[in-house]
Amino acid sequence: MSSRFAYKNFTSREKMVTNAADQIARAVNSAVTVKGHASLMLSGGSSPKPVYLALTQMDLPWNKVTIGLVDDRWIERGKPGSNETFLDESLFKGKAKAATFIGLKTGAAKPAEGVSEAEEKLASIAKPFDVCVMGMGLDGHTASWFPNSKGLEEALDIQNPNTVIAIDAAGCPVAGDHPERITLTLSAVMASKQIILMIPGAEKSNVFKDSAHKSVYEAPVKALRAAGERLTVMTDES
Ligand code: 6PG
Repeated sequence: MSSRFAYKNFTSREKMVTNAADQIARAVNSAVTVKGHASLMLSGGSSPKPVYLALTQMDLPWNKVTIGLVDDRWIERGKPGSNETFLDESLFKGKAKAATFIGLKTGAAKPAEGVSEAEEKLASIAKPFDVCVMGMGLDGHTASWFPNSKGLEEALDIQNPNTVIAIDAAGCPVAGDHPERITLTLSAVMASKQIILMIPGAEKSNVFKDSAHKSVYEAPVKALRAAGERLTVMTDES
């Protein structure tokens, strides 16, 4: 039976951000000391952005770090909405630009057509990943695992051996104007030594708590609980 995840409720946003950046920095230093390299799989979104801004000011062995994405919209790097653009404008603005980056987007017209090339690119990041950083939407999605999206069942199938999968989130309100997604599967996220879920504010922490009473298809964030003590949930709900 897996042990319970850590739930950390900080007294301020600043403390939450500092704590997350410190936990990631410790994991990077320890991985580089032990095996000579480290891997970080990162989500986009407003929740982790201040963490990336803090991390990139830190003196870490960035040239030994490989950074990948948890998910992305099918948008060219350089354009708004792309998580590659998002990292360029946050993490890669500082010292972290010395890291190796492996994105998910390919030249294919659609995620379903680009997924095998993305799978090949990601094969160069050895599992287990050292840290996987996740966010969550108020609909209970995490990564691009949107409730009622096409591909969700395969994405959440823990027996699915693939690292990435295409998701069609057309009609999912929170996916907005960019329903064509590529995302890590649940089995890939679970192949992480540490998973940090950032859910700032009482509204998000309530969605996360409520997910315990729902199915993973209604509230996909629930699936992360299976990581047990490898999962740290960070909030500043009060
Ligand atoms: C993304 C994500 C997505 C995100 C949530 C929460 O790239 O958008 O991977 O799952 O983490 O939508 O986003 P916020 O932190 O902006 O609320």
